[in-house]
Amino acid sequence: MVDPYKTREDYPVLSLKVEGKNPIYFDNACMTLKPRQVIEAIEDYYNTYPGCGGRSAHKFALKVTMRYDEAREKLQGFVNASRKEEIIFTKNATEAINLVANSLWLKEGDMVLTTDKEHNSNLVPWHLLRDRKGVIHEVVPSNPDNTFNIENLKEKMSRKVKLVSLVHTSNLDGVTVPAREIIEIAHDYDALAMLDGAQSTPHREVDVQGLDVDFFALSVHKMAGPTGMGVLYGKYGLLENLEPFLGGGDTVQQTSYTRSEFLPPPEKFEAGLQNYAGAIGAGAAVDYLASIGMEEIHEHEVSLNRYISKGLWNLGAEIIGPEDPALRGGIVSFTIPGLDVHDIAMFVDEMANVMIRSGMHCVHSWFTARGMKGSARASVYLYNTKEEAKIFLESIGQMKEILG
Ligand SMILES: Cc1ncc(COP(=O)(O)O)c(C=O)c1O
Repeated sequence: MVDPYKTREDYPVLSLKVEGKNPIYFDNACMTLKPRQVIEAIEDYYNTYPGCGGRSAHKFALKVTMRYDEAREKLQGFVNASRKEEIIFTKNATEAINLVANSLWLKEGDMVLTTDKEHNSNLVPWHLLRDRKGVIHEVVPSNPDNTFNIENLKEKMSRKVKLVSLVHTSNLDGVTVPAREIIEIAHDYDALAMLDGAQSTPHREVDVQGLDVDFFALSVHKMAGPTGMGVLYGKYGLLENLEPFLGGGDTVQQTSYTRSEFLPPPEKFEAGLQNYAGAIGAGAAVDYLASIGMEEIHEHEVSLNRYISKGLWNLGAEIIGPEDPALRGGIVSFTIPGLDVHDIAMFVDEMANVMIRSGMHCVHSWFTARGMKGSARASVYLYNTKEEAKIFLESIGQMKEILG
């Protein structure tokens, strides 16, 4: 089990006083805090070998190339890819999904299926493809408690479906889809499967080979790593056949005035000078998370979720998603009848330095379909404590007393 009092010591910002009080950071689904191990790895790059990788042959450049490659290997190990060339560095999960949307051989009449609660990152790219190429996008309706409905997926499946692209763990309610079963169904119809793992990779063990997933997008800034970093995993045989999304320096072996000869993956997808500090920081982040243990992190989050959910129910809140906190990981998305969700977020910030998110969390489609303005969302991570959760609940209680 994670000892949050011990892990907290790794996070310099948690010992800062903001207006006289320690910050209580419950906005981890948006972005997590960074431990000193990650900050130091980035500082080390800028302070001691700030060169560009893969190009020049001097000492700085050779060290960057080596560390960049090591970071790729660390990410490979973290998601259990079969080779490091299956790991493509991107600037975030959104870019990883867009890479697939723009590079895959989808054409007019091909169908892409998603859930009905996708982050805009796995929705807008399909709207664009529909408008540009005539690709059809359809949603698989979830169960009333927002869990995935396999029968609804089966009903939607046909030979027209070329890609099933789903949020692995939802940022709306923390629910994880039964990915292995879904991917098997997609493959039965010769469709490819992509998972948006922005909210799963930071909190659970992910095994891309075990899942047999074709593409997997992740977001480094949500897993104790630096901003501006993401990863696309793809099966090597598929990546070899994908068109590059962006062309430019470092993607090609040779060019003439009329031709470009591309390098193999991953280089053909990593155009221009890369975010070396970001990749090196990502490597440090996965080392850090692995040293703590992903299942331990998940258990810790669920135990906090139980405590927060119970406290919120006692205060009359309605929680989005299934009743069982174990099915909602580290996310508690809620509304309180009679209170505005933005007022809730502002109040707990003002009163107790508790930082949560309010609004539609980039899942506008789900909220607008239900005529809802949004929710307040508390999302926890490996440094959050029960004491912090208690302060959060007390501040909601105070708000209800004053305004409710
Ligand atoms: C489920 C999900 N998908 C995609 C994203 C986008 O991630 P990124 O900011 O890395 O592009 C987010 C970010 O909140 C998310 O929660």
